[in-house]
Parts: sequence; structure tokens; C-alpha cells
Amino acid sequence: MQLIDGKKTSGEVKIEIAKEVKEIVDKGGKAPHLVAVLVGEDGASKTYVGSKVRSCEEVGFKSTLLKFDADISEEKLLETVEQLNNDDDVDGFIVQLPLPKHISELKVTEAIDPNKDVDGFHPTNLGKMVLDLPTFLPATPFGIIQLLERYGIETSGKHCVVVGRSHIVGTPMSILMARKTKIGNCTVTLTHSRTKDIKAETLRADILIVALGRAEFVTADMVKDGVVVIDVGITRVPDASKKRGYALKGDVKFDEVAEKASFITPVPGGVGPMTVVSLLKNTLLSAKRRQGIN
Ligand code: GUN
Repeated sequence: MQLIDGKKTSGEVKIEIAKEVKEIVDKGGKAPHLVAVLVGEDGASKTYVGSKVRSCEEVGFKSTLLKFDADISEEKLLETVEQLNNDDDVDGFIVQLPLPKHISELKVTEAIDPNKDVDGFHPTNLGKMVLDLPTFLPATPFGIIQLLERYGIETSGKHCVVVGRSHIVGTPMSILMARKTKIGNCTVTLTHSRTKDIKAETLRADILIVALGRAEFVTADMVKDGVVVIDVGITRVPDASKKRGYALKGDVKFDEVAEKASFITPVPGGVGPMTVVSLLKNTLLSAKRRQGIN
């Protein structure tokens, strides 16, 4: 079994990004600027956004965090999005999800200028992804593709099973793995809550991508020997022995599944850090486009 070390790989990607930023700035260009919008006090969202902002500093980006109370009106949030769309100093921005129930995530996502949508969630960008046109790929799927590529994992002709059909991970992942690209050319099965026999499907996977949000859902009896496992889940499970009061668990029962896997991502330290660097990559791409650098 080989561990797919997202922490290490993300560190390598950050060095590459930092080098490019330095070259741009040395030539008189402008450092990329990412804005993150955080609404409310959700603990996990605060952690994720904090990590995104910190990573910007590590690679020489400018970053801004806009924090709003959970009771902000939808109208006020949409106004903020419009201001960011029109702010020439901003190369890309994200609105961290989930949003409070009284705000439509779709309305907010659709209000973001697709050219600044570095999360790749806007319908225009998702449509471009489906058509194989240049776009911002959603950060988590983009991160998974980079991991598969950098670890030299052969995907062509393989059977990829995706568990979970969320708009930000499962659904785009299933499309990307079937594309006619280096990482792609898989036969894909997308499973979800109405799938009759999940185990029968996961047992057929050469590559298993789990993005369900249910701690330790996949057990050793659900996978075949030699499977490549990508675990996207990260759930806080109460744990009195930890100082912070919880442990982070993936969607895969790591210890037992690792014994059968050829490659596997840990949680934490697998997909998560790659999501952050993908966001940085998209922001760098946007900044270069806006400055006419290719
Ligand atoms: N919530 C969970 N993952 C993400 C992400 O990649 N981007 C945003 N904006 N919100 C999220």
C-alpha cells in the first residue's frame, strides 16, 4: 500500500505557485488577490477559510477575508458579490458554503462573475467543464486529479466508482473521470442514496472516490484487493481524549481498507490540502488571464 500524501504534494505545488508569483512580481506584474467570504460561525467553515487565507500568504498572494454575521440578508450578500465582481483589484473570490438557510446558495453562486469564480461552481464554468473547454475546475475534484497524476496512477480503461452526488464533488468528479484526458478515460459509476446495493458497486471499483460525509462508511469488505481509494470525507466525531473535543474521520475506515488498497489518501492530510492549492491554482490562472500573461 502506498499512502497518497496530500500534505506533501500540496507543499510541492505551493512551491511551484510561489515561484510563478515571484516571477510575475519581479517583472512588474501584480500578485494575485483572493477574497474569501465567510457567513456565520460554522466551525468547519472557519477552519477551511482560515487555511485558505493562510495558504495565500505562503505563496505570496494578497488575500482578504470578509466576515458577516449569520443573519446577513440575501440582498446584502448579493450586493457584496456585485462589489467583488466590479473590484479590479480582486482576481478571484469564493463564498464559503454552506450558507444559512435563508440565503439561496444557487442565487449567490449565479451572481458571481464566472471569470472570478475560482471555486468553479458557477453554471457557466460547470458547463465549460462538461464541454472540455478551458475553465476553473471545482477545487476538490481538481485536487484529486492532481493527486492521481502526480502519483502516476493509471486511470485509462479503469472502473471508477464515485460515492455521493454532491454538486461540488461527486457529480463533477464523475464527469471528469470519464473525460478523454490523461487522468480520465474511466468507465464511471456514480452511486448515491438511492443506489440499491452500494457494496456490489464499490466491490467493482478499481478507483473508489468517496464523498459522502459519513464517517467510516466504507469498510474492508466493500473493496477489492488493489483498489485505489480517494477519501473526500472529513467529519468531526466527538472524542473526549482530544484537546479540541473531536477527532477528524474520513468516509473510509482507513486502517482496514488500507490493508487491501494499492493507494489510499489519509484524513486529514489527503484530499483537503489539495483542495486549497487547487483554489490557489485557479486564482493564479485568473490573475494571469487578467494581466494578459499566458
Ligand atoms: N464548502 C465545502 N467545500 C467548499 C469549497 O470548496 N468551496 C466553498 N466555497 N465552500 C465549500
